[in-house]
Amino acid sequence: MNKDGNSAILLAAFGTSVPGADQVYADMEKKVRADFPGLEIYWAYTSKVIREKLARQGRTFLSPVQALGLMAEHGLARVAMQSLLIIPGLEHHDLIRTRASLQGLPKGIEKISLGAPLLNSSLDIQRFTRAMLDNVQSQRSPEEAVIFMGHGSTHPANVFYAGLQYQFWLHDENIFVGAVEGTPALEDILPLLKKRGVSKALLLPLMVVAGDHAINDMAGKQTGSWMSTLEDNGVEARVLMQGLGSFDNVVDIWMDHLKEAVASL
Ligand code: CO
Repeated sequence: MNKDGNSAILLAAFGTSVPGADQVYADMEKKVRADFPGLEIYWAYTSKVIREKLARQGRTFLSPVQALGLMAEHGLARVAMQSLLIIPGLEHHDLIRTRASLQGLPKGIEKISLGAPLLNSSLDIQRFTRAMLDNVQSQRSPEEAVIFMGHGSTHPANVFYAGLQYQFWLHDENIFVGAVEGTPALEDILPLLKKRGVSKALLLPLMVVAGDHAINDMAGKQTGSWMSTLEDNGVEARVLMQGLGSFDNVVDIWMDHLKEAVASL
């Protein structure tokens, strides 16, 4: 896998500034270390806002461009860059462009492969659906609906949320997928809850870590949070504050994408 010692892995996550939420990233790294012994692991945060926020606290995180630059300085010739994102949206397309721009520069990295985000194909959607059906089974009472809060995107890949919703409905009509900054919105889900007589719901983030959006926009006590809006609409909601990166069977999907990226180096 790393015959000449100059291949490595770059994990590219959105990033989080919520103290403790990054434990999920540390756990994911442990899995990568176990699956790819002998390959050094680097990290990058794709969000400039998060990197700047952390920098003000004295914590330095590299952008993907900076991390690849550093890896070139360290003499690495082949890098498997794994997208720890959910959908192939704006952030992932930035990784695609970063890869294209930085691969093959003089004295740089010869080959950069890019591992797909969590949901990148119909197969990923099916696999993720099965994994999450298993994961929520033990957490959920039979009459409880499940509502996922995804991030959402202005990128066309936002349709992955609708695709995922469809796949869940093939198994369970009381599982809903919404997006905090995209569609389907919670407003699209409310009439369906009413129609199906849902009075209880379990809310969980469709994001890698349970960070700022999960804590405030999903579970916040203020008006406008998903929790409050559901309660205003007669749905008693509770939250499962667990990012997708903390479910082993979900992380396995990313790991398989990374396996492909490493194999193609
Ligand atoms: Co946001």
